[in-house]
Amino acid sequence: PGRHGPRHFLDLKDFSGAQLRAVLDASAAMKRHRRRGEPPAERPLAGKNLAMVFDRPSTRTRVSFDVAMRELGGETLMLTGSEMQLGRGETVGDTARVLSRFVDAIMIRILDHDLMLELAEYATVPVINALTKVSHPCQIMADILTFEEHRGPIPGRTVAWSGDANNVLASWVHAAARLDFTLNIAAPPELSAPPALLAWAKEQGARVNVTTDPFAAVDGAEAVVTDCWVSMGDDDDHHRHNLLSPYQVNAKLMAAAAKDAVFMHCLPAHRDEEVTAEVIDGPQSVVFDEAENRLHAQKGILAWCFGANGL
Ligand code: CP
Ligand code: NVA
Repeated sequence: PGRHGPRHFLDLKDFSGAQLRAVLDASAAMKRHRRRGEPPAERPLAGKNLAMVFDRPSTRTRVSFDVAMRELGGETLMLTGSEMQLGRGETVGDTARVLSRFVDAIMIRILDHDLMLELAEYATVPVINALTKVSHPCQIMADILTFEEHRGPIPGRTVAWSGDANNVLASWVHAAARLDFTLNIAAPPELSAPPALLAWAKEQGARVNVTTDPFAAVDGAEAVVTDCWVSMGDDDDHHRHNLLSPYQVNAKLMAAAAKDAVFMHCLPAHRDEEVTAEVIDGPQSVVFDEAENRLHAQKGILAWCFGANGL
């Protein structure tokens, strides 16, 4: 991406493994720098403005992008879909062209993936996908950073997903293909990964395995990952809860994974639904490191979009 136009960050599948690795390395370097308590050596995004368009709620994505931008020397504008003319029917294309005249990059959270792609098509500045119904690429950059901090380099390793095969899982599939790790997915057949996504993974030669048995999925896995049962835009009905309850991550499931496997969850979490309190608040859980890493990951992503930090 970015070879013939703005450097959009829309999906992990658009990048090579080497490009993702470079972004992850930049994120880790900026994290080390911040940890040492040194003031930023330089403010590579000084004078840059990021418009953050939220058509849906957010805590982590919103705050991490805002703080990342500030720490890199730039500024942000927080815009909510309903307060924009977008909410009154102005097209995404026109919105993209107008925002591009004012700001240097646009981050958007919107459920309709095609609208996010349309925004990117018309924008003349970089666009960042901050979650659609289809994918959540920024989250998985933070997740990879977290896995690697706790368990070492991810290539060749095994990650298990148990639960709804949603947008977060889709970005894990993209990452598995690009960063060369095995991903075992356990989901109920009714809520399994989209066939086109699995076909893509197969075509890429990715080691992505699908099962309906969470115990089979976690066998040998060094990370057990799940997400909420009801994502933004889903119906919160009994049927969904019944389908997903066998996929709950609990102590018994964690015990079937590799010794010292980490538990990961993008948050927000629902204790005693997709994960027991015992697991998410227990010693194997790294969910708050994962949340913190959103900040460091966003910095790498922003640096890439702006061609800063040697990216
Ligand atoms: N994980 C995540 O994207 O959280 P928010 O919805 O709070 O941004
Ligand atoms: N799968 C969840 C992730 C929230 C960060 C959702 O789409 O609502």
